[in-house]
Amino acid sequence: MTRSAPPGGASDEESLEGRPLLALLHGVNLGLLGERPAAHYGTVSLPELERLVTEEAERLGWECVCHQTDHEGAYVELIHSYRSTAAAVIVNPGAWTHYSYAIRDALELVKGPVAEVHLSDIERREEWRRVSVVADVASVRIVGQGPEGYVRAVHDLVELVKEARRRAEGGRDGAEAERAG
Ligand code: DQA
Repeated sequence: MTRSAPPGGASDEESLEGRPLLALLHGVNLGLLGERPAAHYGTVSLPELERLVTEEAERLGWECVCHQTDHEGAYVELIHSYRSTAAAVIVNPGAWTHYSYAIRDALELVKGPVAEVHLSDIERREEWRRVSVVADVASVRIVGQGPEGYVRAVHDLVELVKEARRRAEGGRDGAEAERAG
């Protein structure tokens, strides 16, 4: 399911089929999930994890696109390409989480809510992993819950988007009612 290039032409925050679009973006070394230390990351492979997230998103009426790259600039470009077309984004930037201000600044431009998810509990590992430079631009943060954390993130993001749309519609209805007197 991992795509190497961003899609073109998707309309504002929705896929071509009109469903809200979720972008799942994995960063450096996460293509080798399944081979990495199981004590931290479990045994699930990236394609399995992507399938889990895609199925959950589809069950909730969303479409999901998945990407992984080991190149920081390519990751930044992926974030750029989905900043307006995705209704929500899940990121696990891997080790970039702990020092990439470039990724943090790119995520700041994403219009929909962003979830930062880590398989392992980065708060309880080495000192340097406890720092996340992307945390302040994430609406949802889930660490240490393995693949289940991604499923939770999908649900949290769907709720946040619904809530934002309800608020926007309420605002529009209110303004129309005011105009109508
Ligand atoms: C990780 C945690 C990072 O510290 C690490 O560099 C990773 C994976 C996680 O999912 O637990 O590559 O983001």
